[in-house]
Amino acid sequence: MAGTHTHPIFQSPSLPTKTFYQKNPFSKIPILPFKPTTTKPFSLRAVLSTKPPSEQKQDDPSKKNTPFHHCFTKHEDGYLYCEGTKVNEIMEYVERRPFYLYSKPQITRNVEAYKDALEGLKNPVIGYAIKANNNLKILEHLRGLGCGAVLVSGNELRLALRAGFDPTRCIFNGNGKIVDDLVLAAKAGVFVNIDSEFDLENIVAAARIAGKRVNVLLRINPDVDPQVHPYVATGNKNSKFGIRNEKLQWFLDAVKQHPNELKLVGAHCHLGSTITKVDIFRDAAEIMVNYIDQIRDQGFEVDYLNIGGGLGIDYYHSGAILPTPRDLIDTVRELVLSRDLNLIIEPGRSLIANTCCLVNRVTGVKTNGSKNFIVIDGSMAELIRPSLYDAYQHIELVSPAPADAEITSYDVVGPVCESADFLGKGRELPTPAKGAGLVVHDAGAYCMSMASTYNLKMRPPEYWVEEDGSVSKIRHGETFEDHLRFFEGL
Ligand SMILES: Cc1ncc(COP(=O)(O)O)c(C=O)c1O
Repeated sequence: MAGTHTHPIFQSPSLPTKTFYQKNPFSKIPILPFKPTTTKPFSLRAVLSTKPPSEQKQDDPSKKNTPFHHCFTKHEDGYLYCEGTKVNEIMEYVERRPFYLYSKPQITRNVEAYKDALEGLKNPVIGYAIKANNNLKILEHLRGLGCGAVLVSGNELRLALRAGFDPTRCIFNGNGKIVDDLVLAAKAGVFVNIDSEFDLENIVAAARIAGKRVNVLLRINPDVDPQVHPYVATGNKNSKFGIRNEKLQWFLDAVKQHPNELKLVGAHCHLGSTITKVDIFRDAAEIMVNYIDQIRDQGFEVDYLNIGGGLGIDYYHSGAILPTPRDLIDTVRELVLSRDLNLIIEPGRSLIANTCCLVNRVTGVKTNGSKNFIVIDGSMAELIRPSLYDAYQHIELVSPAPADAEITSYDVVGPVCESADFLGKGRELPTPAKGAGLVVHDAGAYCMSMASTYNLKMRPPEYWVEEDGSVSKIRHGETFEDHLRFFEGL
């Protein structure tokens, strides 16, 4: 294996371990031109939007959507590039495979798309959902671009503070927040969502311990079907998240009884994830502003509507025209303006998923019975979404296949000792040579942050391609020695 320690690819101003690397020849390569691969009653359920995304209303014909241009593209030479840098060359020189490879400029572009969409709204907050990807370097970059953060644990809050996020642009969510973490949240001054009766009690207790009044939002279930996999649907009536809406009055009375501990500032909902029809957000926002009207009628000065995250991305790379951040914001814009609200959004996937690939090496190809398998070094340990949700993530080889290579239907599987260990099923791919590079696309969200060390496959390193084409390491890979450290002194 070629070592990064000696190869010149990794010199970059942001490189954390400068002593390991030398000058990066790719910083001299200009970024190549971008090429696409193709390529009211509160108790009522919302009326569902059933139109496919392409048929949904577009107010301004000048803003007609075009297919998304992926930052990982196959060029005419048959090689896969991340921005202007060849993925197979990066692959040869990193310390080990598999590894995660990001495009830093794509992260910037994704944030800018949201910022543009939010223009004209009063004090909007882009709360990046840290659960999607908690790489500290990525968080620092997102914070630098003006994002706030959405947190679901005390450690995510600690990390957000370490990354320098402004606590007044952070929101602490969750159905089982513990008092210790709530004390941290109260001290830091982040927004906290009330999720249940016991959660309200815990927030009150934390406020007393911290000696701080907490800005709270009520997490309401609009009961809109987001039309996604049940594991990522969260805003329906039977969800484990949010308050029982029939008990809204109980929550309002409870807040009134604790004026020193709680200040109700808004209402929150989160419908689910991978949503590809933005009308669904409008359906939910209509229900939410009705709740806000009702809450205001009782004298509360609530200024924030938090519509959560959930916008989907083009995992299939089929050229489908999916809603953009602007489409999403445009569906709720008038409602937000009509009530003079500050809008909070909580995107995770749509900010980070399409900025990254998991880069793997082919260990070998085999056939059993009627099935053909490409066995790679990556697995469900590094990327569990296909095994967990049967999620589709696009897969391709990083180098051109030999002219005579046969196209065959393959299951792409890892070495983990589980039949559930697959990255893709039934993929039409040219038969790869041993050692060929193979990427799993759109791996920026819910991949590394869900990675495990199952089978003692240690979590992989992460890199990003910077604006000038140089490549930097942004997270060390875990090692066997890291594992042994858990037993030191026992
Ligand atoms: C409360 C909340 N907000 C935001 C998000 C981010 O969602 P997504 O990554 O789909 O944008 C999630 C994820 O499920 C969530 O539970």
